[in-house]
Amino acid sequence: MKKLYLMFPQEVGTIAPEIYGHFAEHIGGVIYDGIWVGKDSGVENVNGFRKFLIDKFKAIHPPVLRWPGGCFAETYDWRDGIGKNRPIRPNWWTNWDNRYESNEVGTHEFMDFCEQVGAKPYLAANLTSVSSLHIRNWMDYCNSPRGTTTLAAEREENGHPQPFDVKYWGIGNENWGGGGNMTPRHYAHEYRRFSSQADNMQGEKVLIACGPNADDYEWTKGFMEVMDSSEKHMQGLALHYYCGFAGDPVNFTRDEWYQQLKQALRMEEILRRHWSIVEAYGMEEHARLVIDEWGCWHQDGSGPSKGYNLFEQQSSMRDAVVAALTLNIFNNHCEKILMANVAQLVNNLHALFLSSGENCIVTPTYHIFDMYQGHQGAAAIRTAVAKEKAAFTGKDGEKEELETLSVSASHKDGTVTVTIANLSADEDAVLCLAPVGAVLENTAEIKVLADPDYHAHNTFEDPERVSVKTYTADPGEEIVIPRAGVVMIQAKIRAQEDQ
Ligand code: AHR
Repeated sequence: MKKLYLMFPQEVGTIAPEIYGHFAEHIGGVIYDGIWVGKDSGVENVNGFRKFLIDKFKAIHPPVLRWPGGCFAETYDWRDGIGKNRPIRPNWWTNWDNRYESNEVGTHEFMDFCEQVGAKPYLAANLTSVSSLHIRNWMDYCNSPRGTTTLAAEREENGHPQPFDVKYWGIGNENWGGGGNMTPRHYAHEYRRFSSQADNMQGEKVLIACGPNADDYEWTKGFMEVMDSSEKHMQGLALHYYCGFAGDPVNFTRDEWYQQLKQALRMEEILRRHWSIVEAYGMEEHARLVIDEWGCWHQDGSGPSKGYNLFEQQSSMRDAVVAALTLNIFNNHCEKILMANVAQLVNNLHALFLSSGENCIVTPTYHIFDMYQGHQGAAAIRTAVAKEKAAFTGKDGEKEELETLSVSASHKDGTVTVTIANLSADEDAVLCLAPVGAVLENTAEIKVLADPDYHAHNTFEDPERVSVKTYTADPGEEIVIPRAGVVMIQAKIRAQEDQ
């Protein structure tokens, strides 16, 4: 049996609750038939939003929700989504999706959804196809106090006298690609212009710049070079990393299991290296990383809509393990991270929910967010465990290896939360907790997400095939981490006087 050391004296930092954030874009089936069914729908709803999803989502305490894109944000005019007569527009994704944007869900509806699920809104504003006045006006509309500006009066006329108090503002999305196809230096100059206008508005705000795609270190460097001489109107730098696909989303081979996990593990190096560039420019005093799109990106067509909903994919135990190891990486690097948003909430890439009409289910990834809740706002501590490796054949036919235990730990209010993903497709792991600098009570709550078949996933026909099992045990004794499974252990820390 291995000992998993919990180094209580070695605190890494506080895990911002926002690291457990989400993302809902106007794309495919995320908004329409995902979160929104409409007020007159036969599907049970609250103000037009799917009730099952609201209840389940609320239960995992989503701290923040990013909206309305993604790429969609870069052609979005927020005025289209307020008031009575809403125009129909081409959606950014129309070329691929064959659907138009009805604007039925706009600012007020989105704020209502956030309020219902208890999440803070994070608005991704357009930089590419508007002037900097556009974001200023949206801020004015959302945040000006009642009875002050003309836009505050319009908000009141539209049914919301009190301000929405939106704190998180993204300034552009993927401006190296769909958002204007800019060079990092060009974007940095645009960002300086937009952010100085945005920062000048009243109220508490967090301004988030478009950062790099995956390992594009040149973007971060080029952007920082220009920002360096600027007033620092920036609290976040948004990095996107999708770990792609390896084989079919559900019918993958053992090698593809490992290939996908290895791709996901690259997150650690990517965020370390971008962070070292941020530090090299002394920007760490001003901004932290925001990984506001992450997840697996499988080939289209495996979800319930069989390809009708763009990017919708089925989500197996492999996706759950990707989510678990990614969140462990974030916890272990929490001092660098302001926020992260898994992409996306429903009927899309790495979704927590799949829905269609009456049907709505949670995926195995949903359970990971549920099991990891104890980390939100907790102090991360270092861990140590003897390493084991698994061998497999990589995509290029070469022999490769990966370490099979992904771990993170934190404590809050006298309780320690430890999350362990066993990346091995072959062997269970057996371990016990070995705290250093604290003593644990001898009863722990243990939650396990695993299935004898690592291809397992939930469907409308079998919605609870993958679900969490809970038991109690002494954390100092043997705890089994099933192969291809994830375990959460939560134990009380014994008070000093009782040790
Ligand atoms: O999440 C889907 C798309 O992926 C987003 O719109 C875009 O930002 C990214 O390329």
